[in-house]
Amino acid sequence: MGAKGVTGIRELLAAATRELSAAGVPSPRFDAAELAASLLGVRRGELIAHPDLDEATVAAYRDLVQRRAQREPLQHITGVAHFRHITVRVGPGVFIPRPETEVVAGAAIEAAQEIAASGSVPTVVDLYAGSGAIAIAVAAEVPQAVVHAVEGDDAAARWLFRNAAGSSDGRLHAHHEHVAGCADGVLRDITGTVDVVVANPPYIPEGAHIRDAEVAEHDPPPALWSGHDGLDAMRVLERTAARLLRPGGFAIAEHADVQGESAPAVFASTGRWTDVADHADLTDRPRYLTATRALAPTSQETRGAAAVSERHDE
Ligand SMILES: C[S@@+](CC[C@H](N)C(=O)[O-])C[C@H]1O[C@@H](n2cnc3c(N)ncnc32)[C@H](O)[C@@H]1O
Repeated sequence: MGAKGVTGIRELLAAATRELSAAGVPSPRFDAAELAASLLGVRRGELIAHPDLDEATVAAYRDLVQRRAQREPLQHITGVAHFRHITVRVGPGVFIPRPETEVVAGAAIEAAQEIAASGSVPTVVDLYAGSGAIAIAVAAEVPQAVVHAVEGDDAAARWLFRNAAGSSDGRLHAHHEHVAGCADGVLRDITGTVDVVVANPPYIPEGAHIRDAEVAEHDPPPALWSGHDGLDAMRVLERTAARLLRPGGFAIAEHADVQGESAPAVFASTGRWTDVADHADLTDRPRYLTATRALAPTSQETRGAAAVSERHDE
């Protein structure tokens, strides 16, 4: 402790790091610094310029640390999540964007940049958009792109609209609708013309155990659960992306690290796609699939359509 009524920042951060570590917080030093930076309105690296804090600030900081020690997500306490080069507002009711999704967004950005480089205006759709992190990152990094974001949950959609309004220069369109209906609904004017569909759908199998309290108690259930095998939303995504994309259009979908074969199989099994491939994240875990909408119906797709038509003729 320094002079009466004043506490040194180093001492405070060290005590907070110990408290968070004891509570099982995975990155206690980072979180302790991030909470202090958020409270003081500075960057983490600038904390050292605030060597001594008054009693009121110290009390406010201890409250924040206590909330984090109770495993409230860091981003709910600070109110923001950083994603690639952008920041979105988050809180109860919306999924916190994850670092592993940054590579998925990166694949969409690269695909859109290629189209822009050829002189066309890329149309990109972010399905299961949540806070809008992917859509906003694409719009920010590809200034030529027109981006649509679709979110079905009421609470999450409110966050999406708020974030989109704060970042939009008229190229980002937020929609409140379920994915299954959007190709005939809010996106009907662009169905069959979209260049890139990107998505981070819910992908946890019903009944699976979630280890981290931050996820189990604070991420909204519609962002997590996806049927008995965790692939229900992926199947809806596959059907919807096939409708939205132009022939040759590109789909990118995040999946769980244990779905490196089963998620691509959802796409490969329909015959509507070519070049179905799976990709790893920065920790080398299977993380997302890519697929190209077939230029013409593949023989498998034609056989499927014929079977449907025969059933209708019966
Ligand atoms: C895993 S979160 C991803 C959010 C965001 N894309 C991200 O990466 O941070 C999945 C999102 O899909 C939304 N969702 C779930 N089912 C949906 C559906 N049928 N139609 C539209 N959105 C849905 C959830 O509310 C949630 O916001």
